[in-house]
Amino acid sequence: MLFKSLILLAGTAAVTHGAPAANDIPRDVLTQIPSWGSNPTNLVLHLYAPSKLTAKPAIILALHGCFGSGPGFADATKGYQTLSSSHNFVVLYPSSINDNNCWDVASPSSLTRDGGGDSTGLATIVRWATTTFNADPKKVFITGSSSGCMMSNVMASAYPDLFSAVSCYSGVPAGCLAGSPGSSPISADQSCAQGKIRKTGEEWAEVVRGMAPLPRGKGKGKGKGKGNCKGKEWKYPKVQTWHGDNDFFVNYFHNFEEQLKQWGAIHEVEWTRNETNVPVPGYTKMVYGDGSKLVGYHANGVGHVVPQEEEVDLEWFGI
Ligand SMILES: *[C@@H]1O[C@H](CO)[C@@H](O)[C@H](O)[C@H]1NC(C)=O
Repeated sequence: MLFKSLILLAGTAAVTHGAPAANDIPRDVLTQIPSWGSNPTNLVLHLYAPSKLTAKPAIILALHGCFGSGPGFADATKGYQTLSSSHNFVVLYPSSINDNNCWDVASPSSLTRDGGGDSTGLATIVRWATTTFNADPKKVFITGSSSGCMMSNVMASAYPDLFSAVSCYSGVPAGCLAGSPGSSPISADQSCAQGKIRKTGEEWAEVVRGMAPLPRGKGKGKGKGKGNCKGKEWKYPKVQTWHGDNDFFVNYFHNFEEQLKQWGAIHEVEWTRNETNVPVPGYTKMVYGDGSKLVGYHANGVGHVVPQEEEVDLEWFGI
């Protein structure tokens, strides 16, 4: 309670000071950012920026799971911080303070572009960081574990123009919890986590498209992978998703498969081959199409927490 009160106080005090400039943000250390603009769901933000940042860095938005926090996820994904200098990126570690610290992947406000929910708050953070660090807008990526993976899929759907690639761990398809009273193991309708929400790829793709009713591009048919946003070309980010089959919190067999169906339909790719023992023994890489848009990693015998493979993620992001 005390910790939360302090965070709230810090957030309130900071609004009057305004958002910091890049040069005012301490480097090589996880730092809390007091203010960055509108924050409809009271998110907290920490980030890690290396001192040796060069021109046009990349941005990685990294989302914790339920009962977690940005600093906790920073500890669990130390590899990003270690690699941030050599790969030239800033990593953003926001925290949700609502609903057992889960990201809202259920309410219409979060499942709608600019609906004023957590997804809107995260988009504001990404835009602020991109401007502040003069980042390359084509090098903005998202990762997350559990609730953070669920939210990664939501962000890729509601803000496809912001992200180029997703790598997420132990989640569910975008929109799987739509209509649930909450997003946490305590508040949610458990049907999705238990793998009981099944749809065709095309039905899942419609759920994705429904979150950001952006004008569609010409010539590619209704709502395919490409479109047009305020005169700017955009397309859905490429997606890589990881899941352990010993996961008793978020059912592997269906949620992994349903996510692959969802993004397979969006990117119009089908399963082509498996690569066994990739990237580590016991894992199977499932390649869709030529492997440039969609990949799944089945982690044999691994539970709900699939350890973050930071180097594989960076390779997927192309940085
Ligand atoms: C490919 O790998 C997945 C995940 O391990 C497995 O479920 C599927 O049966 C494999 N497919 C083939 C044809 O080996």
